[in-house]
Order: sequence, then C-alpha cells, then structure tokens
Amino acid sequence: MEFKKNILCIGAGYVGGPTMAVIALKCPGYRIEVVDINEERIREWNSDDIPIYEPGLEEIVKQVRGKNLFFTTDIAKGIKQADIIFVSVNTPTKTFGEGAGMASDLQFWEETAHIIIENANNNKIIVEKSTLPVRTAEAMERILKASNRGIQFEVVSNPEFLAEGSAIPDLLEPDRVLIGAHRTPAGREAEKEIVDLYAHWVPRENIITTNLWSSELSKLVANAFLAQRISSINAVSSLCEKTDADISEIAYAVGSDSRIGRKFLNASVGFGGSCFKKDILNLVYISRSYGLTEVADYWQMVVSMNEHQKSRFVQRIVREMFNTVAGKKIALFGFAFKANTGDTRESPAIDITKKLLEERAIVSITDPKALNNARIDLKGIDRNVLYEPDPYKAAEEASAVAIMTEWEEFKILDYERIYQSMKKPAFIFDGRNLLNHKQLYEIGFNVYPIGKTPLTHFE
Ligand code: UDX
Ligand code: ADP
Repeated sequence: MEFKKNILCIGAGYVGGPTMAVIALKCPGYRIEVVDINEERIREWNSDDIPIYEPGLEEIVKQVRGKNLFFTTDIAKGIKQADIIFVSVNTPTKTFGEGAGMASDLQFWEETAHIIIENANNNKIIVEKSTLPVRTAEAMERILKASNRGIQFEVVSNPEFLAEGSAIPDLLEPDRVLIGAHRTPAGREAEKEIVDLYAHWVPRENIITTNLWSSELSKLVANAFLAQRISSINAVSSLCEKTDADISEIAYAVGSDSRIGRKFLNASVGFGGSCFKKDILNLVYISRSYGLTEVADYWQMVVSMNEHQKSRFVQRIVREMFNTVAGKKIALFGFAFKANTGDTRESPAIDITKKLLEERAIVSITDPKALNNARIDLKGIDRNVLYEPDPYKAAEEASAVAIMTEWEEFKILDYERIYQSMKKPAFIFDGRNLLNHKQLYEIGFNVYPIGKTPLTHFE
C-alpha cells in the first residue's frame, strides 16, 4: 500500500509508544515507525508483552502493528524515509554540572539532532514531543542549520498532555492539542501539516496553534499549575490534622466554585511522576536564569511543599507507633506513582520507603503492576525490603499498612482478614484517603487518613 506520509518517532517510551499507536490507529494513510536505541524495548514492543502498561494500549498496538505501525532500531533508515520526525526521547533533570538538580539534561536531545543531520537527505519537519525547557527548539535549529547540506528543517513544538494510566482516552479525546511553530511561511506550512494530522480525529477547535515559545512554555506551566493545586490542598491537609476540619469536605466545598473546579484537589502523600517535579524545577531554573528570583521562589515552594508532605507522612507513622518503627514490619500498599500504571518515576513510595528504612523498619511492598520497577528503584538498599505480589501476604505479621497508591484492587480487599493476620495494635495510614475509614476502625484498626481526624482505639 502507498502511504501518504512517513512519520518517524525517535524514543519508544511512555510518550512515544502510546502517541504513535493512536496516530497509527486514526491515520491509516500514514506509515509510522517508532525507533529507540534500547533494543530490548523495541523487542518488547514487537512481542505479546508490550513494555508499558496502559489500559487499552495493547489492543490498539495489536490492531495496527505491522500494518502502518512499526517498531525498529534502525534509526538511520527511519530518518531517511521520514517526512515528519517526532522526537520523544527522555529529558531527565541534570544530575551533574551547571544546573544540576534543576535544569533538563538535553544530551539525548542533542544526540538526536546530530543523528538527524547525519542521516537526512531531504527536507523534514521536526516535532518536539518531549517536555523541554523553553527555547530548546532554538538550540535544535542551530544544530540542524549548522549542516550546510541544503536540507531544510522546520522545528515545531507539540507538547504531550497525556497522563499515565489514562493515556489512551487522553489521546483519543484530548482537551486540546497544542502546536507551536515559527510565524514564518515555512513555519506555517509545517504547522499545517501537524494540524492536518491531528484533525483526523480531534475537532479543529480543540487544536490550538501558537508561536513556538508559547507552546514550549505552556507545557511547563500546565504541569506547574496542576502540581500547585496538589501542593495547595496538601498544605491545607496539614492544617486539617491540627483542627478537626476534614480535607475531603473542604476540597468539595472549595472545588464547587466553578472558578476553582473539583479536579486535582485530592490530598495525598505527595505527587509523583516523571513530569511534575522535573517541569517545575525547569521553570524555576529558567526564571532564575532570567534574574526573576521571586518567580523562581514561588514555583520552588510547590516542590518544597511536596517534599514536606512526604516527610510529614513518615514522621506521623513513627510518632503514632510509639516513636519507633525499628524492627516493625510496615506493609506499603502500592508503589506506582498513581493507579493504573507500573511507572514508579518520582513515586512518593520511593522516599517513604527510604525514610522508613532509615528508621529501621522492615518494609513489605505490594503493587499490582510496579513490583519490578520497585526492585530497580531500591536496588542496593533493599536488605530489609520484601516484595510481595499478594497484599494479604504483604500484611501478614505487619504492624501497619500504609496506602501509597489509589489502586481499586486495594479497596476491595478483605480487611477483616488482613486485621486478623497483623500484629496488634494494628495501624492503617491512608496516604490516598482511599479506604472506608469508619469500617476499618470498627474492625479494630487505628486509622490515620490524610487531613482528617484519626480514628483510634487509644484512650
Ligand atoms: C501529568 C499531567 O497530568 C499530564 O498532563 C502531563 O502530560 C504529564 O504529567 P501524570 O504525571 O501522568 O501526568 O499523572 P497525573 O494524573 O497528573 O498525577 C501526577 C501525580 O499527582 C500522581 O502522583 C498523582 O497521584 C498525584 N495527584 C493527582 C494527587 O496527589 N492528587 C490529585 O488530586 C491528583
Ligand atoms: P517519556 O516518558 O518522555 O516517554 P521514556 O524514558 O519512557 O520517557 O522514553 C524515552 C525513550 O527515548 C527511551 O526508551 C530511550 O531509550 C529513548 N532514547 C533516548 N535517547 C535516544 C536516542 N538518541 N535515539 C533513540 N532513542 C532514544
């Protein structure tokens, strides 16, 4: 079959994989190839056991793989064939040198730019898909234009707003698609190509076009705003625990104001995920580099409050369990940074585990999808960690259960049975306000939710 266009996506991760699967599904006239330097990952994408767990993803991959969606490691060939190249390689926070801990590490990006130049033999549109610091497109263009081979590269920004665990519905029905391009004739032409691609399934009025820098910055700002809501409600949860106010009631009452809205007001043990912290730190770094100290400090507090929420959670566990957890078994229910994903990047459970280990607890971890990643995250420090697929076993002989992830699976467990198997007094620290606290209390647990009065059997 003749295809209308060839699309290449560099990077077969959480963003590249699902996004390309949905584009392939919705645009049968386009041939899409996804490449990665990680051969194992590509092998998995071509197998029955795809490397990412996302509800609905596997079905789509099976439908389009081998028809108009292909996973390969031949980056050079992919570049030669492509009209449009999406770049969705990882851009972690820098761990070394200038901007360490704050700025983005762009080495994978820069490497990609060089590979593109080396292999391109005709004009291309380059689409930034990974979240990047503002003005990365400029750097990319400089590298691409440094090749004097008469090839035109037009860089377009198209940030991805999908959330993990709901990637497929988010991609199928996005609130908006954002496309940023230069306000030049060539920029407009490239913009139109990408608009036409998404217009296969996204209503035109939901496709927003902006200049390149607005698009890049919008992604950072969107994530900073979402994270800021969580840090705000978490700050209030701390106040609730001192005053007998109830954080769920407050979130409901406050969120009922249509100007505020209900979403992203669930108090928790802290936000995680690969984006929030990284993107805010990026915003902080950029603001500081322009001398905007107050702006940088303002956004920095969103991250600091999140760190505080995690520390506070552990301090409370230790305090309530008679000031020591040394030698006590604590069962962590959940390790993923949120439900419906096996991803543990920046998961609050990682910090909670480390802090509990410092307190010399024995940490027993259960999670429906994230145990393999938990093992990787805790490698070298897990002498006192147990990994247990069965939550009932994880809780056996434990003194406390701490809910880390809001998996539906944890809601429907037999807590009577869990209580019977635990040491007494038995504690539950519900870091997601997931469970029915009154029922747990009646079973015999001492229950500590976030931002609510504890229910305890102590005098
Ligand atoms: C986020 C953005 O939502 C998405 O648009 C962007 O493309 C990538 O970053 P993601 O990190 O996948 O997506 O998950 P999200 O649902 O935003 O949750 C982030 C963290 O916040 C999770 O740890 C989640 O548990 C936590 N959270 C979310 C809360 O603690 N309370 C809430 O009310 C909502
Ligand atoms: P994200 O959540 O942004 O998708 P991931 O880490 O899941 O991040 O995916 C990024 C992918 O990009 C990884 O599979 C990594 O191997 C791949 N990658 C990084 N650098 C390159 C490169 N130069 N060429 C091809 N793939 C790359």
